[in-house]
This record gives sequence, C-alpha cells and structure tokens, in this order.
Amino acid sequence: MFDHPEYDGHEEIVFVNDESSGLRAIIAVHSTVLGPAGGGIRMFPYRDAATAATDVLRLSRAMTYKMAMAGVPFGGGKSVIIGDPHTDKTPELLEAFGTAVERLGGRYVCAEDVGTTPADMEIVHHTTRYVTGLPGRTGDTSPTTGATVYQAMRAGALAAFGESDLAGRTVAVQGVGNVGRHLCGHLAEAGARIICADVDAEAVAGAVERYGATAVDPAEILTVEADVLAPCAMGGILTAEVVPKLRVGLVCGGANNQLAGPEVDELLAGRGIVYVPDYLANVGGVLSGTRLMLEVDDARLAARVAEVFDTVSEVLQRSRDSGVPPGATADSMARAVLAGARG
Ligand SMILES: NC(=O)c1ccc[n+]([C@@H]2O[C@H](COP(=O)([O-])OP(=O)(O)OC[C@H]3O[C@@H](n4cnc5c(N)ncnc54)[C@H](O)[C@@H]3O)[C@@H](O)[C@H]2O)c1
Repeated sequence: MFDHPEYDGHEEIVFVNDESSGLRAIIAVHSTVLGPAGGGIRMFPYRDAATAATDVLRLSRAMTYKMAMAGVPFGGGKSVIIGDPHTDKTPELLEAFGTAVERLGGRYVCAEDVGTTPADMEIVHHTTRYVTGLPGRTGDTSPTTGATVYQAMRAGALAAFGESDLAGRTVAVQGVGNVGRHLCGHLAEAGARIICADVDAEAVAGAVERYGATAVDPAEILTVEADVLAPCAMGGILTAEVVPKLRVGLVCGGANNQLAGPEVDELLAGRGIVYVPDYLANVGGVLSGTRLMLEVDDARLAARVAEVFDTVSEVLQRSRDSGVPPGATADSMARAVLAGARG
C-alpha cells in the first residue's frame, strides 16, 4: 500500500472484513492535521479491491484539501464499501461498518455519499457515535452543494469568458441527480440554457420538465458543444482521450475526482479550457455536513457559499499568473494551509 501510486502519506488505512454480514470495506484516514477526518461512505460494486483502494485513497486526499480550502476544522477521510447498494446493503452490514468506524475512536467521522443515504446513517449510528448526515439533522447536503457549484461556475465564467453572468450561456450537465438538479435550478433561474444527460430516464424527464433542459444521450454529453461542462455524476470522466474532444470553454461541476489523473489538469489548460478544481466547487457538501457540529447558522452558511466565488477566482488568478494549472494550484494552496497548521 505504501508503494501505491495514489498513496499520499495517508495516516491510516483500515481494511474491514466482516464474515457474518458480508461487509468488505476500506476506511482511509488521509489527514487529521486540521481535525477529525471527515468523509462519506461510498457503496459501489467495484470490480475488485484494488479499484476500491485507488478510489478511497484519492477521495480521502481530496477531502483533506477540500476541508483545508474551506477553512473548516476537519481533516480528510473517506470509506468505500464494496457491493451493490441496491442488492447488498443490509442493516447488519451497515452496523458492522459502524463498529469499524467506532474502533477508530473519532479519528474518522462518516456521512452519506454515493450509494448511501441519511436513512442508512441512522443504522450506522446504532454502532458508532461518529456519524453525521442523520435524517432530520444535517439532512440533505445537495442543495448547498448545488449552490456552491453555481458560485464556482460564475467565477469560472469570469475567468473563461470575461463575465460571471451565466444568462444565455449553455451548460451541459452530466448527471441530474441530487447535485445536478439543484445546479440546474440555479442555472435556469440565471437564464442559462441547459443540456443534460443521465442514465436514469426519470431524472432526465424531471430536468426537462422543471428546468426546460434539452436531453441528450449519456454517451454524447461530454462532447456536446456548449460553454460549460458540469460533471455531476461519477469521477474519473476527464481522461486524456476525452479532453481533445471537449467543445466547451469551462469545466465546473459537482462530481468528486473528475480528472482521471493529475496530467489531465495540464491537458485542459493546454487546450485553453478553464478547469475549476472539483473540490472547490462541491465544497457545499462539507459546509452543510459540518454546520451543526460547528454551530453555523443560515446567514453564515449563505456567506460561506458566496465566498466560494472568491476562492475560485483567487485560485484561477494564481493559476493564470504562475502558469501552473488550476488543480495543481489549488492543491499547493491546500498543502500550504496544512503546513501552516503543523507549524
Ligand atoms: N450530494 C452532495 O452533497 C455532494 C457533495 C460533494 C460531492 N458530491 C459528488 O457529486 C456527484 C453527484 O452526487 P449526487 O449526490 O448528486 O449523486 P446522485 O446519485 O443523486 O446523482 C448522480 C446522478 O448521476 C447519474 N449518472 C450516473 N452515471 C452516469 C453517467 N454515466 N452518465 C450520466 N449520468 C449518470 C445517476 O443516474 C444520478 O442521477 C458525486 O460524484 C458525488 O460524490 C456530492
């Protein structure tokens, strides 16, 4: 594991195997320098444990950087459960997962993510105290995430097109699930034209009806002609093969780990496409997820959402000044925050 290409000095990586419930999971604590490592539980039918390990290492590192840039007193962690959330998720499995989280003694605080829900967190809570996102408490984080993606997109538009106003711009949204549809709400209100795609026909129908979106086939969404591409489904979609085919000036969306590898940051810049680092855009998830613990009221939350415009603008300006692509620029700014906290 120490030789894994995605290993980045992670403090602790726990492999969980519970025979009786069938749980197979990996919990990665990347950093607790700024506080307990926060991060969601992703349940996904990974083709093998190696793929799951790569995902959890990358996702947990991004959480550290996201927390550092958001200025919240949390570190970065993530967990993955290997299995199909539709068929393999049982209360016993979730409780066994909670037991593993409890054993970490608060070094990792979990929440829902792709493949898990607030109702699942209630079951995880049977066996651990270290869980957020319980129903009726933090609730659904995706409205705030949609709002921060929108602010990040306005800042990206300023850098890419010279004006932040998205009225009349065409935005291609990949994935109109929780985050995607909240983003569409902001875009429709701002007067943007929306092109969308989703593998879920019902989600597409909702976006067409509610936001006047034009639907395209999921296979086409990455290469449609538009001003902005907003990846709001899964990560790893921006590959060296896809970048030459993009027909947009700006990429800004809610999905985690959009770049298939760090080299894609440079490839996008080389094509003159402005890339808003994903963890800056989707920071609303942690702002919303930590607000109860940090006693953040509605007004303060709204101010934090608005500040995303400034943070993204600063990163993109530094990137322009230095010639270092935006992803690498944001990473080095986050590492500086961590170095400052280490003293
Ligand atoms: N929910 C949050 O607050 C939050 C916070 C930060 C980051 N994110 C990230 O944002 C992304 C979306 O999260 P969400 O909560 O909206 O999840 P979701 O499951 O509600 O929505 C994802 C949507 O993408 C669709 N999809 C999956 N594969 C697709 C494909 N190949 N082409 C088109 N559509 C596809 C799904 O059908 C679904 O409708 C994830 O990467 C997640 O990690 C979410």
